[in-house]
Amino acid sequence: MAQTLVRINIIFTVLLATFSQAAESLLPQQRPLVIAHRGASGYLPEHTLEAKALAYAMRPDYIEQDLVLSKDNHLMVMHDIYLDDTTDVAETYPDRAREDGRYYAIDFTLAELKRLHVSEAFVRSGDSVTAKYPNRFPLGKSSFQLSTFEEELELIQGLNHTLGYDVGIYPEIKQPWFHYREGRDIAATTLSVLKQYGYHSRKQKIYLQCFDAEELQRIKSKLMPQLHMDLPLIQLIAETEWGEKMVEVDGQLQNYDYDWMQTPTGLKKIATYADGVGPAATMLAGFKDGKLAITSFVRQAHANHLAVHPYTFRADPQQIPPAVGSFENLLRLFIGKIGVDGVFTDHPDKVRAFIDNRSLPSRQVVADANNEHS
Ligand code: G3P
Ligand code: CA
Repeated sequence: MAQTLVRINIIFTVLLATFSQAAESLLPQQRPLVIAHRGASGYLPEHTLEAKALAYAMRPDYIEQDLVLSKDNHLMVMHDIYLDDTTDVAETYPDRAREDGRYYAIDFTLAELKRLHVSEAFVRSGDSVTAKYPNRFPLGKSSFQLSTFEEELELIQGLNHTLGYDVGIYPEIKQPWFHYREGRDIAATTLSVLKQYGYHSRKQKIYLQCFDAEELQRIKSKLMPQLHMDLPLIQLIAETEWGEKMVEVDGQLQNYDYDWMQTPTGLKKIATYADGVGPAATMLAGFKDGKLAITSFVRQAHANHLAVHPYTFRADPQQIPPAVGSFENLLRLFIGKIGVDGVFTDHPDKVRAFIDNRSLPSRQVVADANNEHS
């Protein structure tokens, strides 16, 4: 009798484990999106066509493009309005810095920008230059170029054609407030190029993102209706002190206040014009005194039917919070426990492998991580 009970117990345990595993497996429609942040930027200099081609081969759902305008109104795929942190502009055009010492893409024509060499992001200190992220593609070891939005769209659409996949695009309109001060309308230019390349409705695989709430509302209520377009919009959320958006008050530029976006009423407001939000990962969870603290952000965003695509998931050992321990644990936490709908990542291959090859993680792993560091 005792033996029978033990056997039943074992069978029950095995069945329970199997059921749990099956219940936690990710169905394709539930799989969080892999968004290649600036391409495969963990392996090749960000936003180069080489980084985008490598990202494509890693089978992300979307590839990201940050967009700024050149002097002759070309949309350039680059993260900053400045050129100094990823190119040799200071050596090639030493006399073209503005009074603040910085070199602005909008002061250069496309032909001039194409003469620049792009490298991994670096930090300059006097005469010495160090890579922003150690152990990534070596500085100055190869020659990469800036590219236009059109060049990148043709690369992705061409690969979709030859390989038969449907990798989407995830463009970000950078700093509309800055472009306005330069007399430009970067949102209108972006929508025009998107329409020209066939991205005009929710049938195409695209999200359009911006840190500027007022500009997204203008896109939603004015620009897209004028152009007969209807694209899903993502409200990016910054910390106020980052200065992502500046506003003029009494003739002085000051940081736009982002705090409202992380409140329940703020998320409700965002849901009136956007389909999702892109918060910093730190807005969703953090460790305090070694204990995991998860905010109510995702729950509140989901209550307003907003998708949540946090940034940025990097596998470089220096980028992993010590309390988490590994990139896989980080993904287990955000995908398995917090339940985000997609992640921006510099390492799309690793996130793809995690999502495709693993079932949803056991909550125990996170509990273990907590215990190890408490
Ligand atoms: O757009 C999502 C994420 O890329 C936001 O951060 O500064 O890398 O553009 P950033
Ligand atoms: Ca971005």
